Amino acid sequence: LSNYSVYKLKGKKVFVRADLNDPINEKGELIGDMRIRATLPTIGYLVGAGAKVIVASHMGRPKNKETKYSLCNVKKYLSKNSPFRVHFVPSWGDEVKDILKLLRDGEVLLLQNLRFHPGEMSNDEEFAKFLASLADIYIFEAFGAAHRKHASIVSVPKFLPSMLGFLTEKEINTINRLIEQAKKPFLFILGGKKVSDKIKLFERLLEKAQTICIGGAMACTFFKAMGYEVGQSFYEKDAITTANAIMKKAEQNGCKIFLPEDVMVAKTISENTETRYVSRKDIPPDMHVVDIGPKTFETYKKEINSANTILWNGPMGIYEIPKFSWGSKSIAMAIAMSKGIKICGGGDTAEVLNSSNLISHFDHVSTGGGAFLKFLEGCQLPALEAISDIE
Ligand code: 3PG
Repeated sequence: LSNYSVYKLKGKKVFVRADLNDPINEKGELIGDMRIRATLPTIGYLVGAGAKVIVASHMGRPKNKETKYSLCNVKKYLSKNSPFRVHFVPSWGDEVKDILKLLRDGEVLLLQNLRFHPGEMSNDEEFAKFLASLADIYIFEAFGAAHRKHASIVSVPKFLPSMLGFLTEKEINTINRLIEQAKKPFLFILGGKKVSDKIKLFERLLEKAQTICIGGAMACTFFKAMGYEVGQSFYEKDAITTANAIMKKAEQNGCKIFLPEDVMVAKTISENTETRYVSRKDIPPDMHVVDIGPKTFETYKKEINSANTILWNGPMGIYEIPKFSWGSKSIAMAIAMSKGIKICGGGDTAEVLNSSNLISHFDHVSTGGGAFLKFLEGCQLPALEAISDIE
């Protein structure tokens, strides 16, 4: 979009495939707005250029068109928090075309949750053709869903001239720049549950990073690999060999790997439980590892303060439970206050920053979860392959 002449947009029907899939509560009310806000520059630009802007997104993983997943709450959000005139079509039928006929230049038409239509996730060609028939131009702006082969992502651009929106361009350029031109020392802080989900990421980053600090449940798989007991904690039996191989490869590459020296352990995974800090060598057999400890934080903070580039993915513990969120929040704060270039991604990690009001302290917070990881791993994302930038 940044290379496309703004004058060509006036009066054009522009289909924006966005990812407005922000967190909602049981009633379907938005309890986060990071992705919606990140999409507003593209919508605002198109509105300003006098285009008729058709916005489509998925929300959640509905099984049966549950009302909480309707985009009517996004419509309310946009009407309240943006200057745009937004219309909404609550269902997938002929009314989409009827309402579109009434749309004026500079107005926005928000379509219903794409996943309420069976053709979206099955990548049905007829559905893609129908979506394409609504517009003159297609803009892909759903970076968070770029790894999905769904109709509105990979098939609509077959039938329309297509290009990327500002947010997606920024995600790609920033992440590529980070990986290719990272100023050393490059520190990678990695948390989350499974080593097995992040093997490819390790493989790539062991080549690029000078230091890797590990937290979250995946640390327990490494503890097992080192011969320590992890009590009742989750760990991946099948990934112990992989964890050993990762540590060996790191040594060969001259990449330092840090694992928590101390951890918080809890009797149960709940707020009102007994907790204490113990050395990784003394994890009690009847307790769960739920967060990193203060000694570990001090070590990781030193690494954070001496790094020139920091990439963070994955919380340090079970941050959703406030009692176990200290480590993740402290790491977030330490990165925010450090001098290096800071980039973070993954739904949970972004949520830690959001809830601590730290997003603006980062150079880039990716709107992608799975897509961010796939892109970091160096995978081709189907959405990006489907786009053939128009001039
Ligand atoms: C996400 O939340 O990561 C994206 O919106 C994609 O959603 P999905 O994992 O349900 O496809």
